[in-house]
Amino acid sequence: MSAADQPFVIAIDGPAASGKSSTAKLVAERLGMHHADSGAVYRAATLARIGRPGAPESWTPGSVLHEVAGVTLVRAGTSFEIRLSGKVVGDELHEPAITAVVSLVAKMGPVREWVNELMRSCADEGPIVVDGRDMGTTVFPGAQLKVCLIAHADERARRRLLQRLGRAPIEDEIAAETAALQERDAKDAVQTRQAPDAVVIDTTHLTQGEQVERIVELAKDRLARTSTHGAT
Ligand code: DC
Repeated sequence: MSAADQPFVIAIDGPAASGKSSTAKLVAERLGMHHADSGAVYRAATLARIGRPGAPESWTPGSVLHEVAGVTLVRAGTSFEIRLSGKVVGDELHEPAITAVVSLVAKMGPVREWVNELMRSCADEGPIVVDGRDMGTTVFPGAQLKVCLIAHADERARRRLLQRLGRAPIEDEIAAETAALQERDAKDAVQTRQAPDAVVIDTTHLTQGEQVERIVELAKDRLARTSTHGAT
């Protein structure tokens, strides 16, 4: 398969609460592509395992893989819906109980291989926007566009709280959430790999609309170049 024949992949990586999933979703909608969220797949694996006996510290990769047999990704609109035993899962993936232990599951090599294969099989179905921590490196090293979204931890905390509380957070709340995010960043550091050829976008002072627009413009430019190469 030549580079021009490969489905177009936009890989968006970034730390917790960098807004990568919501941005990736909007970029996919704008470009008529599909969006698949790898973090949500790790969360679905955690949800599948958490319903079974045994404390998280005792979970083995084999016991998680046994449960993920029930996890499927199905194209729906411009997204890939995640189903667990046939039932669509969404908000429950972001419950604090899942967030508290998902990094344990994300550290398991065999689980990572399963997620990576699942993401690659989504790309086999057509042009895709994927987001996570290692999409532009381990999973799609040949992605036509790689973006790394970064933002100051206190701004990520402020955005996350605004979303969760539905009001402007006070300083103490921001400080506590910033510490929690930094703790999560440290836990996820091992599997976070930034591609050297990624376009780094610092969103600290950007609106969501602005960051979506930047990625859409970059993607249009890369798409134009890909089709030019394809024609020659
Ligand atoms: O982005 P998120 O918070 O939904 O990710 C959930 C967990 O999965 C978090 O611990 C980071 C991890 N993750 C990962 O290790 N690799 C990815 N490609 C995506 C997420």
